[in-house]
Amino acid sequence: MDQIAYVNGSFVPMTEAKVSILDRGFLFADGIYEVAAVLDGKLIDNASHLARLLRSVGEIALALPETIDRIQEIQKELIARNNLVNGMVYLEVTRGADTGRDFAFPKGVKPTLIMFTSVKDIVNAPSAKTGIGVITVPDIRWARRDIKSVALLAQVLAKQAAAEAGAGEAWMIEGGMVTEGGSSSAFILTQDDVLVTRQNSSAILPGCTRKAVVALAEERQLRVEERPFTVEEALAAKEAFITSASLFVQAVVTIDGKTVANGKPGPMTDRLREIYIDFARATAQ
Ligand code: PDD
Repeated sequence: MDQIAYVNGSFVPMTEAKVSILDRGFLFADGIYEVAAVLDGKLIDNASHLARLLRSVGEIALALPETIDRIQEIQKELIARNNLVNGMVYLEVTRGADTGRDFAFPKGVKPTLIMFTSVKDIVNAPSAKTGIGVITVPDIRWARRDIKSVALLAQVLAKQAAAEAGAGEAWMIEGGMVTEGGSSSAFILTQDDVLVTRQNSSAILPGCTRKAVVALAEERQLRVEERPFTVEEALAAKEAFITSASLFVQAVVTIDGKTVANGKPGPMTDRLREIYIDFARATAQ
């Protein structure tokens, strides 16, 4: 059966899911996106993703074409129509298609809203057992990384460089410090058992999984420090990992080819992964 996508009010086969070449998402990357995980047919931490969607569109003065409640209904209908058990729902809203190419906001143009699903067994991903390698690249992104914009060229280049190096993610570096992964938040566990992840600011995306993992760790009396860290500190750490909606908690075992600790996923990373999966299942909707 053909995969079903959602485009501006209609559920259509993927092959027929199209937007105009004048769409501002295509011409200017003038749009916002979200990715929410699906486990057993249910959305994970979706309220957090929709809250960030609202914030992102607010920051670029883009009015959503549907209410947040309706957006969640569409997400659920799309999951049902695709019989999606495990994977992700991608959604994107752009400032729509005008009659030409003007930089300033068009007047009276309805924003574009599209969604599609993809299949992925996040819980049983083989890389969760082995861990992944990361490479480091300069963070060449714009200054508003807190906005989940579809302008992802810097991340495309970073993740392509990672793929060419046989690594699973790129850690972006600015001022000697790790900002975050190309599509994930970065964490380390220090030798004193302190969980360190960079504080939210315009330098990084406020990760929904990051937020949940920090809260779950603090509930369990783990010490968490929200501050930047260097690659040297990560290489001297007990453990390192990344978080995102599409991989939950994922061990990092090498950085630029050098091993972190013994080169295997650490016990705290494995534990936080289990804790996050339990939280995900318990709060799925
Ligand atoms: N990326 N940092 C960046 C730059 C990201 O693109 C993402 C998510 C994250 C993690 O955020 P969250 O935990 O809310 O997924 C951090 C998504 C998954 C993507 O682009 O596919």
